[in-house]
Amino acid sequence: MKILDGKLTSAAQKREIAKKVAQLIDNDIRAPHLVAVLVGEDGASQTYVTAKEKACISVGMTSSVYRLPAKTTEKEVLEMVNFLNNDPDVDGFIVQLPLPKHIDEQKVIEAISPEKDVDGFHPVNVGKMVLGLDSYLPATPAGILEILKHYQIETEGKHCVVVGRSNIVGMPISIMMGQKRNPGNATVTLCHSKTRNLAEITRSADILIVAIGSPEFITAQMVKEGAVVIDVGIHRIADATTQSGFKLKGDVAFDEVAQKVSWITPVPGGVGPMTIAGLLANTLKAAQKNR
Ligand code: GUN
Repeated sequence: MKILDGKLTSAAQKREIAKKVAQLIDNDIRAPHLVAVLVGEDGASQTYVTAKEKACISVGMTSSVYRLPAKTTEKEVLEMVNFLNNDPDVDGFIVQLPLPKHIDEQKVIEAISPEKDVDGFHPVNVGKMVLGLDSYLPATPAGILEILKHYQIETEGKHCVVVGRSNIVGMPISIMMGQKRNPGNATVTLCHSKTRNLAEITRSADILIVAIGSPEFITAQMVKEGAVVIDVGIHRIADATTQSGFKLKGDVAFDEVAQKVSWITPVPGGVGPMTIAGLLANTLKAAQKNR
C-alpha cells in the first residue's frame, strides 16, 4: 500500500500558486483577495475557515473573514452577499456551509455572483462544469483530480465507484471522473443511501471515492484487492488515549482497508489539504479573470 499524500501534493500546488501571485504583485496588481463568510459557531466550520485563511496568507493572497452570529437573518446574509458581489476589492468569496437552519442555503448560493463563486456551487458554475465548459470547479472534487494526477493514477477505462451524492462532493466528482479528460474517462457508478448491494458494488471498484459522512463506513471486506481509495470524510472521534481527547477518522476504516489496497488517502493529510489548494487555485483564477 502507498499513501496518496495530500499534504505533500498540496504544498507543491501551493508553491506554483504562490509564484503566480508574486507575478501579479510584480506587475503592480494587488494580491488576490478571498473572503469567507462564516455564520454561527459550528466547530468544524471554524476550523475549515481558519485553515483557509492561513493557506491564503501562505501563498501571498489577502484573506478576510466575516464572522456573523448564529442569529443573523437570511436577509442580512443576502445583503452581505450582495455587498461582496459589488466590492471591487474582493476577487472571490465563499459562504461556509452548513448555514443555520433558518437560512435557505440554496437561496444564498444563488445570490452569489457566478464570477466570484470560487466554491463553484452556483447553478451557472455547476451547469458549466457538467458541460465541460470553463468554470470554477468545486474545490474538493478538483483536489481529488489533482492528487490522482500528481501520482499518475490511471483512471481511463477504470471502474470508479463514488459513495455519496452530495452537491459538494459526490455528485460533481461522479460527473468529473466520467468526463473526457485525464484524470477522467472512467466508468462511474454513483452509490447512495438507497443503493442495493452496496458492498458488492464497492468491491468491483478500481477507484473508490467515499464521501458519505459516516466514520469508518467502508471496511476491508467492501474493497477489492489493489484498489485506489480516496477518503473524503473527516470526523472527530473521542479517544482518551490522545492528548486532545479525540482522533480524526475518515469514512474509511483506514487500518484494515490500507492493508488490501494499492493507494489510499490518509485522514488527516489526504483530501483535506487538497480542497484548500483547490480553493486557492479558484481564487487565483478569479483574480486573473475579473481584473
Ligand atoms: N462546508 C464543507 N465543505 C465546504 C466547502 O468546500 N465550501 C463551503 N463554502 N462550505 C463547506
